[in-house]
Amino acid sequence: MAITLPTFTPLEDSLFLTLYARALDNRRPHPDLGDTTADQIVHTTDYNYDQLHIDTNLIVNVALRAKKLDDVAGSFIARHPDKVGLDLGAGLDSRFERLAPPSTVDWYDVDFPAVAAARRRLIPEHPNAHVIGADATEKDWLDAVPTDRPAVITADGLMGFLSQEELISLWNRLVSHFPSGELVFNSYTRFAIWIARHARGTKSVADLVQFPGMDDPRTPEGWNPKLRLVREILLSREPEVDQFPPALRRYHRLAAHSTAWSRTGTIVLHYRF
Ligand SMILES: C[S@@+](CC[C@H](N)C(=O)[O-])C[C@H]1O[C@@H](n2cnc3c(N)ncnc32)[C@H](O)[C@@H]1O
Repeated sequence: MAITLPTFTPLEDSLFLTLYARALDNRRPHPDLGDTTADQIVHTTDYNYDQLHIDTNLIVNVALRAKKLDDVAGSFIARHPDKVGLDLGAGLDSRFERLAPPSTVDWYDVDFPAVAAARRRLIPEHPNAHVIGADATEKDWLDAVPTDRPAVITADGLMGFLSQEELISLWNRLVSHFPSGELVFNSYTRFAIWIARHARGTKSVADLVQFPGMDDPRTPEGWNPKLRLVREILLSREPEVDQFPPALRRYHRLAAHSTAWSRTGTIVLHYRF
């Protein structure tokens, strides 16, 4: 029987866009991510996914950026198996299930209380996967997270919804909370923010976008002296583009020749502290 979730705020509702994109990626002949849990959740929830009008470009970008965040988190966990992982603005993403970390890792999924409650209904519980229902821009929720273990922090699809001040203050609190760690999130240039506000595929979130965009991946190094850029991952230049449908593959292969052009697309930024 279909599960009906309570009505979310428009900001919370944005989780369906990325959830459905990952589910549709899973139905492609060669999925980028292969997120079967996303597909299962879409099948079991009573939500009008058709009104999202998701196009193929959004599907492959959302799936591939999730994979890049998974790769960074997975590599951190492999090197530090007793550490902590966080997913900020986790929505109904099952990153913990995809990573399947050893039992020595504690993982924290953070999202607003209504979303946290939905997660508890839809995603199987695991003793090491903790759900925190909170506004990530507030201070207190971090009290529940250990301070003495290095952490990998992922934020997939969150940055656009925070103001620059909120983002800086959040990154600073995280950097001072843990002894060391890594931070990985998808970022947007100013042009990409303009596109997000005007494209049909992201129409449902256009009015919620607050972040002005960031053209230089080294900008966060100026926000906190401990943050160091490890890598700017431009999806157009990643090998998985070979699996994109032909027209998109040709577009990204062309874009890959130019850093400025590649930066108009999806960017994943990876830092350490
Ligand atoms: C586009 S969705 C992405 C969800 C998930 N990361 C994914 O990839 O499917 C953005 C998510 O960020 C959450 N969010 C936005 N602002 C937040 C905040 N200040 N605190 C906690 N969660 C927030 C929303 O509730 C939503 O679940």
